[in-house]
Amino acid sequence: MTQPPRLSRFDFPPGFLFGAATAAYQIEGAGFGGCGPCHWDTFAATPGNVVRAEDGARACDHYHQWPADLDLLRAANMDAYRFSTSWARVMPNGVTVNPEGLDFYDRLVDGMLARGLKPFQTLYHWELPSPLADQGGWTNRDTAARFADFAQFITERLGDRVASIATINEPWCVAWLSHFIGAHAPGQRDIRATARAMHHILLAHGMAVERLRGMGQPNLGIVLNFDYAQPATDSAQDQQAAARWDGIFNRWFIEGITRQSYPEIVLEGLGPHMPQNWQDDMPLIGQKLDWLGVNYYTRHLHAHNAAAPWPHLADVPGPLAKTQMGWEIYPDGLQHFLTRMARDYVGDLPIYVTENGMANADELSGGAVTDAVREEFLFAHLGATRRAIAEGANVQGFFYWSLLDNYEWAEGYEKRFGLVHVDFDSLARTPKSSYHALARALARND
Ligand code: FCB
Repeated sequence: MTQPPRLSRFDFPPGFLFGAATAAYQIEGAGFGGCGPCHWDTFAATPGNVVRAEDGARACDHYHQWPADLDLLRAANMDAYRFSTSWARVMPNGVTVNPEGLDFYDRLVDGMLARGLKPFQTLYHWELPSPLADQGGWTNRDTAARFADFAQFITERLGDRVASIATINEPWCVAWLSHFIGAHAPGQRDIRATARAMHHILLAHGMAVERLRGMGQPNLGIVLNFDYAQPATDSAQDQQAAARWDGIFNRWFIEGITRQSYPEIVLEGLGPHMPQNWQDDMPLIGQKLDWLGVNYYTRHLHAHNAAAPWPHLADVPGPLAKTQMGWEIYPDGLQHFLTRMARDYVGDLPIYVTENGMANADELSGGAVTDAVREEFLFAHLGATRRAIAEGANVQGFFYWSLLDNYEWAEGYEKRFGLVHVDFDSLARTPKSSYHALARALARND
């Protein structure tokens, strides 16, 4: 990668927010504070699902170490913090409130405000309570209604202090990755389950937005992830293959919400497996948003695979430099999605980059971590964000994923995404050179 220019906060519009993101299960320690079991605990305990069968029982022990972690955000001159509130912690059996869980988030939000950090809350970053997983999880329509109840309870407690609320983090991961590919909890590989989850997760979003709006809660949005889809060759078949992937990943959720319809190219495969009368739910799914969150990491090349059933896809390895995840580094993809969202779907609605980052095999040496490659990655993606703004996209903030090295789902603790290194034995935190570079870029002149 050629060295991107080192931007600073003054290269962005006034009021643009910089922050970092985390998620509850990945950092808190699900073993503490009366948190209930979630589907990730059992997925991880099943051989073959997660590297070394690691789980989030202790994670970064953020449940106890949160004051120091919030200090790290503050000391990096950040304006905001994107965190999630675990459903399994707040309602261990999926329906009854755990006061300890609510108290924890209450302290956490007050701690952000005390440090001048705007709390950007995500309601569902994948901690589905096991009792609800037992009843079919996202394949069961009732889960959406239970989710709206959870949204209400937690908002009754925190809603007066959070700056914004996202309903769902990455519906594609919740539905497709977890029910079709089977790489995330609950690890299903079933097209009927997938079609149901693809719809019910948006229904949960719609029901929660309706409930929270009814309570007068402002700044409601959703966080979608996007994957730049390119055909492996110029052939018409490969172009169709890329278009199918684009439909499944990049169009299904945003079109459900903003057009109250699903793309034909995806219904060709999922249509026969959809829940009955799904069309009746579209007005509820299509309620107005206050903002859109865009998560972006990489691109993929796609080839048509006639031998495989729908969606007839074969992944083709790409030529670009890759991160520790094996993901190609492609900052132009971020610019593409920010401008595309504004142009095709949300117009002037505020857009936030709610996640962008890279895993790297960082090593502590002499008490420090030099992750120059992450510095380059970060500034290249800030540059892509700035270009999208110049093209007219109303992007109002950027959250780096992640503040800390943490539990990277099926990859366990092996993949390091943090600005801050975590030693998973001692739990010591060491800010990396990328953290220091970002702190310098975000310095204010007041
Ligand atoms: C996203 C997830 C986040 C983290 C990053 C690397 O898909 O939202 O929890 O795992 O990827």
